[in-house]
Amino acid sequence: MSQSATPAAHRGAWRNRWTFVLATAGSAIGLGNIWKFPYMTGANGGSAFVLVYLLCIALLGIPLMMCEIMLGRRAQRNPADAMAYLAREANASRQWRWVGLMGVLTGILILGFYSVIAGWVLDHIVRAANGAFHGIDGAGAKLQFEIFLAKPLELIFWHTLFLAVTMTVVSRGLNAGLEKASNIMMPSLFAIVLLMVGYSMAVGNFAESARFMFSPNFVLITPSVVLSALGHAFFTLSIGMGSVMVYGSYLGRHISIARTTLYIALTDTTIGLLVGLAIFSLVFANGLAPAAGPGLIFQTLPIAFGVMPAGDIMGMLFFILVAFAAWTSAISLVEPAIAWITENFSFTRKQATWVIGVTNWLLGAAVALSFNLWADIKLIAGLNLFDLLDKLTTNILLPAGGLAMALFAGYVMKTTHVAEELGLGPRTYALWRFAIRYVSPLAILSIFAYLFGWLS
Ligand code: PHE
Repeated sequence: MSQSATPAAHRGAWRNRWTFVLATAGSAIGLGNIWKFPYMTGANGGSAFVLVYLLCIALLGIPLMMCEIMLGRRAQRNPADAMAYLAREANASRQWRWVGLMGVLTGILILGFYSVIAGWVLDHIVRAANGAFHGIDGAGAKLQFEIFLAKPLELIFWHTLFLAVTMTVVSRGLNAGLEKASNIMMPSLFAIVLLMVGYSMAVGNFAESARFMFSPNFVLITPSVVLSALGHAFFTLSIGMGSVMVYGSYLGRHISIARTTLYIALTDTTIGLLVGLAIFSLVFANGLAPAAGPGLIFQTLPIAFGVMPAGDIMGMLFFILVAFAAWTSAISLVEPAIAWITENFSFTRKQATWVIGVTNWLLGAAVALSFNLWADIKLIAGLNLFDLLDKLTTNILLPAGGLAMALFAGYVMKTTHVAEELGLGPRTYALWRFAIRYVSPLAILSIFAYLFGWLS
């Protein structure tokens, strides 16, 4: 593997600051906010989860996102070579490249289930268009979703479609079309989410929803809630696996990493909270279970679309925008792998896309089956394939990647290099450094200690 064969001039570069912000926000905002956040909140006791999650975003997520963008921008390489390059710059071991390689793998594993869930979203575009939500109630929505999940070929079909579009876009490379589309799609998504909140306020139990999500309930904060909240903070911000690093590597030198990060984290968190409020209003008004699991949004949102005027069109539009948000995230999930392959082996971008595409098609097809035919095949710790990939990536691999990056930036890199790259004022820099050297490593390590039973 050559590690220095990637002069920045050969790589794409963002046309301007706004584009980078949009692309990184596009990576962050996705199924994590709309699909995962509500069901994780529901399964982890509501407000207890939300509180810890918000703390994790503020104390770990934001400093780590800055850290990861900084690493990418300084190295201007794919995550594995970026880590090797920066390590050499700091006279440290090349083996730091394993952090990047682990990220490449993590992206592939996340996309393994991401494309299946995004497939559900695609199916729901068609369902909305066909008027399948008319007058549907809680029980009806649940049944409709269960019938859908039981059909392996349909799940595989939608997964294939989602993956094919993702890979087509990826094979064309940075800048093509995607930037322009983001300009319209992201603000529209925000607008329709606001509308959904309005509707669920009108037809749902908004007070109960707000209470469930925000009234402090500290007794419900258990180690497993903390673990899930930490993992979700990483997942939703796309940090810990090199996505943000690879986007940062295409970023020009004159841009403020701190401001960009704050902006993205804020938008990302707001969307999650808004969707959560809408979902739980519907959950409580329709006698559904908050802890229904990964199907939660698909069993609740149809109820709202079923009663609102022009609900078919609104439903279609909503699911189209969610699919778009999922695409911009999926692209960032594979970009580390594509950049690594093309920059290390004599593969064209197109060939690299095929390699990852086929791998991920197989993985996704297996995940699709884990919702029906293979649902009872437990691989490790009583988890089937979907649960395993979800937990392994969100709760372990992403935090582990974040930990390694924090240790690297906090203890291995030269302070002058880090400071120069971040360009913060002295006080903000001191705060950031404290978060990276102490807060993040200690928080992540103690959670791992619990998880692996080192403490007990
Ligand atoms: N942040 C994305 C979402 O919320 C998922 C993602 C995770 C993307 C990790 C890239 C890297 O949907």
